[in-house]
Parts: sequence; C-alpha cells; structure tokens
Amino acid sequence: MRILAIETSCDDTAIALVEASGTVSAPRFRVIKSIISSQIDVHRPWGGVVPNLAKREHIQNLPEIFRQIFNLQFSNNNFQINSKSKIPKIDAIAVTVGPGLEPALWAGITFAKQVWQNLKSQNSNLKIIGVNHLEGHLYSFLLSQGLKNKNSKLKTLFPAIALIVSGGHTILLRMDSLAKWKMLGETRDDAVGESFDKVAKMLGFPYPGGPEIQRLAESGDPRAIPFPSPMIGTKDYNFSYSGLKTSVLYYLRDHHPTTKNRKLKNDVAASFQEAALKVLVKKTERAVREFDAKTILLSGGVAANASLREKLSVESEKLKVNFIAPPQSFNTDNAVMIAVAGYMSILRKKNRKLAADGTMGI
Ligand code: KG4
Ligand code: ZN
Repeated sequence: MRILAIETSCDDTAIALVEASGTVSAPRFRVIKSIISSQIDVHRPWGGVVPNLAKREHIQNLPEIFRQIFNLQFSNNNFQINSKSKIPKIDAIAVTVGPGLEPALWAGITFAKQVWQNLKSQNSNLKIIGVNHLEGHLYSFLLSQGLKNKNSKLKTLFPAIALIVSGGHTILLRMDSLAKWKMLGETRDDAVGESFDKVAKMLGFPYPGGPEIQRLAESGDPRAIPFPSPMIGTKDYNFSYSGLKTSVLYYLRDHHPTTKNRKLKNDVAASFQEAALKVLVKKTERAVREFDAKTILLSGGVAANASLREKLSVESEKLKVNFIAPPQSFNTDNAVMIAVAGYMSILRKKNRKLAADGTMGI
C-alpha cells in the first residue's frame, strides 16, 4: 500500500511517500520520496520553538512540499488538486495528531483532510489515519539498513528495551512485539534533548543545541567537572534533567567561561554530556537485565548523538544483545517514520481521532 505521511508536530514540516507491505510481525517499507523543511532559522532568534510561528510556517510550507513530492505545478496561493494533477494512486494518508505543539499539529491535520477531500475522487477507499508521533520514533528502527529484507530476524529481537530520547521526551519501554509494549519510565521534568538545548544556550550557542554540545564535547574532558546524574540510583526507570541543568548554570555562574577560554566550555559540554548520557545507559542496561531483553532500540533526535550511540553499542556487546538505531536521517523528526507508524496502526486496527492532542502518551 502506498502511504502519504505528514508530520508537523514541532518545527519540521515533513511529507513522505512510502510503499508499505507485509504483516504486523513482518512489515516492509520502501521510501519513495521524503522531504523535510526545517524552521530552525525562524525560531532561532527566540531561543526555542514558538508554537504560533511554527503553525504559520507549516501552513506556508505544506503545499510547496506537497508540490515537490509529486512534481506538480501550482502556485502556493492556489493549492488545488484536480483530475488533471498527475498524482499516483495513494491508499492512505497518515498524519501526526500528537504529542506536540497543538497549533502546529492542527496545521498538518487540516492539510491532510484537505488532501484527502481532493484525492477521494481518485480512490473512494482512501484512508486517513491519525498517528502518534512517539510511535513514529519507536518504529523508526524498522528503517535500519541491517533489517531490510531480513524479516525472519524481526521476531528474534523481542523482548526489546526501547529508549526514545528527543527534545520533548525521555522514555524507556519494554517492547514484547511490534504490536505490544509497556512504558517502564519517563522523565519527571525536562527531556534530555531539552537539557542539551538549554546548556548549549548557557554556553552561548543557538537552538537546537544538541549537535553543538556534541561538537564541543569532542574536545573536552568528560571527567573534568563532576556534574550529578540525577536519579541514577533510583530503583525505577524514571529520569530527571532539571537538576543537572541547574548544576551547569551554577557552575557557569561561578566560573564564567569566556570565548577565549575555550577549554572550559569544552569541558563543561563534555562533563554535562557524560552526566546526561550515563543515566540513560545505566537504566537501559538495568532494564535489559531485568526483562532478559534481546535488543536495545534507540530513537528520537538525541539518538543522533555519537557518544550515546557508542556507549549503547559498547553496552550491548557486554550484554550480548542486539543494538539497533535508525539511520541518522530518521532520528530527528521526519515523515517516513509517520508512514511506518501509520501502516502499523492500520494493521493493528488502531483508529485515532483526527484532532490535535498535545500531550498524547505512548
Ligand atoms: O526528535 P526531535 O527532532 O524532535 C522532538 O520530537 O523533540 O529531537 C530534537 C532534539 C533537540 O533537543 C536536539 O538538540 C536534539 O534532539 N539533538 C541532539 C543531537 N542532535 C539533535 N542532542 C544531542 N546530540 C546530538 N547530536
Ligand atoms: Zn520527535
């Protein structure tokens, strides 16, 4: 089945066209086209994502990206699909309905409904389905090259421990199959990606700060400053990042790194990154042992972090389990993962309301 997917939950406007086939235990995906338009430059002056600006940008970007996906000709002010538009048959439209910024989510939902209305005449069975953004991240490991054409391997991966780490979420869950999972824990306050962004801002770097922290940390000493790793010793699978952020703030208040004092900045970034990642790795390891898991799955924007991937890779070798993370381009927000989660929702007969739900859980 051919799926058109739309993602607008935060500051990326993304549309993808994906061919999906196979069953709920052995799905297969082929990306036909995927376009992501980042709004980083629009939000940067504000130090973070502004919901109504994001909405405005999504509304502007969606028709243009749609046009590029299908090589159509029409002006942005006159978005219209008619029988002359050369659009190949589509079987389903998948759109993110939550969690995320509600004004941004509505932009995608409204556009998806408009496209559905327009394309219905070509295919009276055209489905439109609401997708959970977090399921998109969770399922994104299915796009990993190593799994392609190896469906026989899929069922040997479970139970798996999945770590979803992004700008909005820090979630650990146990996945028993592609259709069944249980959340083990999540952050009590800030998300890990959010703490990377905030520490980068304290060091004078623009949003989003994760890649900057990684870059600075590569030249710093991770043992230079003993920042705390909050909740590392608690028996649960929850996380907390606001205390770590505050420790960095106090340290900087007392030490004032200047642009000339690059070493101090590098050491702060490296020590912060070390403290932040240590908890993620420790709790993932504990969950693997407790549930006798066979695989560690990593996803979300922070999964792009090279040090986290390295640490989990080393840990998985020690534990003798698989470690799977999606290719770099599918870690941060994209619409391909929404097509994947949309297909899985169809197979699992999960129907979600086509309405924005900013705080939807997994
Ligand atoms: O999944 P995502 O694109 O959006 C959300 O759903 O939140 O994640 C964005 C987050 C940002 O906080 C960004 O700083 C972080 O992912 N990020 C990184 C790296 N690349 C992106 N954090 C640490 N290291 C990176 N290399
Ligand atoms: Zn995301």
